[in-house]
Amino acid sequence: MDIRKIAVLGAGQMGNGIAQVCAQAGYEVKMRDIDQKFIDKGLATIKKNLERGLKKGRITQEEIDASLGRIKGVLDLKEAVEDADLVIEAIPEIVKLKLDTWKAVDEAAPEHAILASNTSSISITQMAAVTKRPEKFIGMHFFNPVPVMGLVEIIKGQATTDETVKVIERVSHKVGKKTVLVNEAPGFAVNRLLVPAINEAIFAIQEGVATVEDMDTAIHLGLNWPMGPLTLADFVGLDTLLYISDYFVEEFKDSKYRAPALLRKMVRAGWVGRKSGMGFYDYSGEKPVPNRF
Ligand SMILES: NC(=O)c1ccc[n+]([C@@H]2O[C@H](COP(=O)([O-])OP(=O)(O)OC[C@H]3O[C@@H](n4cnc5c(N)ncnc54)[C@H](O)[C@@H]3O)[C@@H](O)[C@H]2O)c1
Repeated sequence: MDIRKIAVLGAGQMGNGIAQVCAQAGYEVKMRDIDQKFIDKGLATIKKNLERGLKKGRITQEEIDASLGRIKGVLDLKEAVEDADLVIEAIPEIVKLKLDTWKAVDEAAPEHAILASNTSSISITQMAAVTKRPEKFIGMHFFNPVPVMGLVEIIKGQATTDETVKVIERVSHKVGKKTVLVNEAPGFAVNRLLVPAINEAIFAIQEGVATVEDMDTAIHLGLNWPMGPLTLADFVGLDTLLYISDYFVEEFKDSKYRAPALLRKMVRAGWVGRKSGMGFYDYSGEKPVPNRF
């Protein structure tokens, strides 16, 4: 099956990145959001990213113009998906919103279209089950920031066929990503390891094993992570980490995934990391200052 037209649902952090890499790879892209201001913001981000590439000599002005010319911002869902070969969804991580959206997409998209969700945690099988084409439903998990990160985790739901997997592997490779194939399970492969690892760092802080900066330096230099786990936690958002930890306990029925009390306390205090200005580091000054616990 040949994919030529892609509809991207959501023009936020992930959606605009996905639209960008698809357009750069030569696909015709419709990027849909629910308000023109989100579409404009998404398109502005794409333009800024591409122009950064121009300054670094990685892309020409002609390539920028051609890529931008292949992306159309769309408000109407039907218009976005009615001629799509592939729909990639990157709307907020809210189960009801995703299920309602997939029902509507299934009605409006051509019969041959493949439906892919960029969800971080919601069951692919659960979303596939509200459509009439669960065999064509799949997880396509990009990483943030999409134009920079080299991986797509492909997630097979209960009914996803090998043919659907092959098509999504081809598209992922064409947009410049390596792929791994995982069977559906909470957290797929990456978050299943990452979230308990970050939580373990927080348990260690809670127990007074090391300071925030020493734990970050230990893992940054000792394991060659690009940044320490507590800096990363502040980037991801402590509310998101807590949500995923609680979701893992609920799904796996295993307390080894439990969130540290310190994480829950910080979220209750509104200390959710960079986006709130306070987390394991204090972001109110020029440079982040580690907090003491
Ligand atoms: N942020 C990350 O690091 C990351 C990484 C991998 C996967 N994800 C997943 O990607 C998805 C999107 O996350 P994000 O960080 O881009 O969120 P975001 O809030 O930046 O963007 C979501 C966008 O979707 C729009 N939207 C809401 N309802 C919509 C609808 N019905 N149709 C079209 N657009 C709609 C919103 O207006 C918003 O612009 C989530 O499922 C998230 O779990 C996020």
